[in-house]
Amino acid sequence: MNYENILSHYQNGITTITINRPSKLNALNKSTIQELHDALDEANNDSETKVIIITGSGEKAFVAGADISEFADFNVEDGGKLAAQGQALLFDFIEHLSTPVIAAVNGFALGGGLELAMACHFRVASDNAKMGLPEVSLGVIPGYGGTQRLPQLVGKGRAMEMVMTAGMIDSTQALNYGLVNHVVTQEELLPLCEKIAGKIMLNSSVAIAEAIRAINANYEDGVNGFDVEIESFGNCFGTEDFTEGTTAFLEKRKANFPGA
Ligand code: COA
Repeated sequence: MNYENILSHYQNGITTITINRPSKLNALNKSTIQELHDALDEANNDSETKVIIITGSGEKAFVAGADISEFADFNVEDGGKLAAQGQALLFDFIEHLSTPVIAAVNGFALGGGLELAMACHFRVASDNAKMGLPEVSLGVIPGYGGTQRLPQLVGKGRAMEMVMTAGMIDSTQALNYGLVNHVVTQEELLPLCEKIAGKIMLNSSVAIAEAIRAINANYEDGVNGFDVEIESFGNCFGTEDFTEGTTAFLEKRKANFPGA
């Protein structure tokens, strides 16, 4: 598929999706959100793709937020719609994909950019990265899940402070907060994400999909995560991957999962 605002590239089991509006610091406009949805959907349905990496083009920004020029004249109804559509199309969509999604945060991740990174299954940052939710400085609040996912990841007090001050934290603080899992130089960022992806790919993608579902259930209102875990655990026993994984262990050889 041809995209205007993103690049999608497949190699060795990994689809890397790059948000490509460097002159606007990769800000998320409506069409970029739609394109990201389409590219992620395609990658998730592609049996060759075992891991998805999302990053930003250029050396300055992952994503510097939602495109402010698009919503500056919105009213109450438009604002609500913008958040609802964005959450459904991209942010909740990513969180619930069955293929692991890693955010390679290569610079500014602000507002919708940090929300995008937080919707991914985990984050790796370069040492120049700066992260924050500056929406209250614009007279608005995070609308793409930031008020929910930031406290889940860093705790309520830290999230309150970050949102209220509209400040940015650097990569070292993000690492201390547990907002990102690793910090490396910009040159090392994609190689490290690919190395982690390589480890993920050795494992059963069917089991990983069930694990994503069970872990996500911990954060869903009215859902008992332990019950989801029991169901997902049971599901694994009906898969070829389970037969291969356990047989390989008992035969003292490495498992060779279908498609791995
Ligand atoms: N929406 C729309 N355009 C944006 C943008 C956003 N969120 N973030 C950056 N841009 C655009 C700028 O308007 C500028 O475009 P122009 O060259 O046509 O004027 C271009 O990207 C470069 O940004 P600039 O502000 O000149 O870079 P900088 O190095 O001086 O500052 C930031 C970098 C990230 C600190 C600054 O761009 C910024 O504060 N961006 C907005 C962050 C934000 O509030 N995000 C939350 C949105 S809800």
